[in-house]
Amino acid sequence: MKRVFSGIQPTGNIHLGNYLGALRQFVDLQKDNECIYCIVDMHAITVPKDPETLKKNIMDVAALYLAIGIDPDKSIVFVQSDVPGHAELSWILTCSSYTGELSRMTQYKQKSKMQESAPTGLFMYPVLMAADILLYDTNIVPVGDDQKQHIELTRDLAKRVNGKYGEDTFVIPEGRYMKSGARIMSLDDPSSKMSKSAENEYSRIQLLDSPSKIKKSIMRATTDSEGIIRYDVENQPGLANLLNIYSVVTEKPVEDIVKEYDGKGYGALKKDLAEILIESLAPIQKSYNDIRNSDELKRILADGAEKANAIAEKTVKRVKDNFGLGNRF
Ligand code: AMP
Ligand code: TRP
Repeated sequence: MKRVFSGIQPTGNIHLGNYLGALRQFVDLQKDNECIYCIVDMHAITVPKDPETLKKNIMDVAALYLAIGIDPDKSIVFVQSDVPGHAELSWILTCSSYTGELSRMTQYKQKSKMQESAPTGLFMYPVLMAADILLYDTNIVPVGDDQKQHIELTRDLAKRVNGKYGEDTFVIPEGRYMKSGARIMSLDDPSSKMSKSAENEYSRIQLLDSPSKIKKSIMRATTDSEGIIRYDVENQPGLANLLNIYSVVTEKPVEDIVKEYDGKGYGALKKDLAEILIESLAPIQKSYNDIRNSDELKRILADGAEKANAIAEKTVKRVKDNFGLGNRF
């Protein structure tokens, strides 16, 4: 069995793009692998957060993980800061990293661009991410392709350390990148990705949106004036995005959907798509509401942290030993 590790930040507004592009794969991977799914709260504070909101978001994301079908009897689900090994290993890896390679990270460059002096946490973000992954002797990391550079850095750091401190120090992980078909675009501007932070709330469908919000968002979605249903990303990108969402959610090939709606208007397609989304999100929303305020959720996270910590402690011990750190071995 391979070990899988992935993390998601505890921010609100988890949307259809996150779900279809990433989270759904987390559920599938549980079948044949030993999976560890983390809520990366320490990554979240690289940008200042209101403590009460952060607390709430951690529990929201945890409940959503379970609601979409992550099974705590099969997989480990936990909160990053509950396991001290992440911070410990992060420092050890920091000492094997170079400021040059960290300044080349696209995400850092983008996020620090507008500021005169960038927060150090933003700069160190990829090292903490490498620690997350290496701490669990991870084989596979399922992430969006925007994370490719961070995974490559993790591999570079692991190989560098192994070369210097022993080949048994780290397992070299591999990224598993989501299919580009699952790239969901914004509903009001199909040239950009559906995103958590876009100002227009109708540009995305959030997993916990009400039926009327889902309907409104889809009915308002930008299309074109061609009026013919076909899959043409270049000339009819809005329509192509809707067909893509339809296809990914129903698992029907796009060509079949195009045929089905041949001669019908965009309105009919949108109306049906809204219904399909409302129906497929309903069970997730129901189970989310059942779990979110239960004591069960806290127990699952505590249990997850304990299991994660048992693995992490072994790795930290091995790494410290290889580095010659500490006095308790
Ligand atoms: P983020 O929302 O940027 O924190 O991303 C969380 C995960 O969802 C990452 O693995 C992203 O690659 C993925 N993701 C984010 N937005 C989209 C989108 N519009 N379509 C597909 N995947 C996405
Ligand atoms: N950086 C990732 C993202 O923004 C989140 C993350 C943090 C992560 N640590 C990780 C993903 C470890 C995979 C493995 O999506």
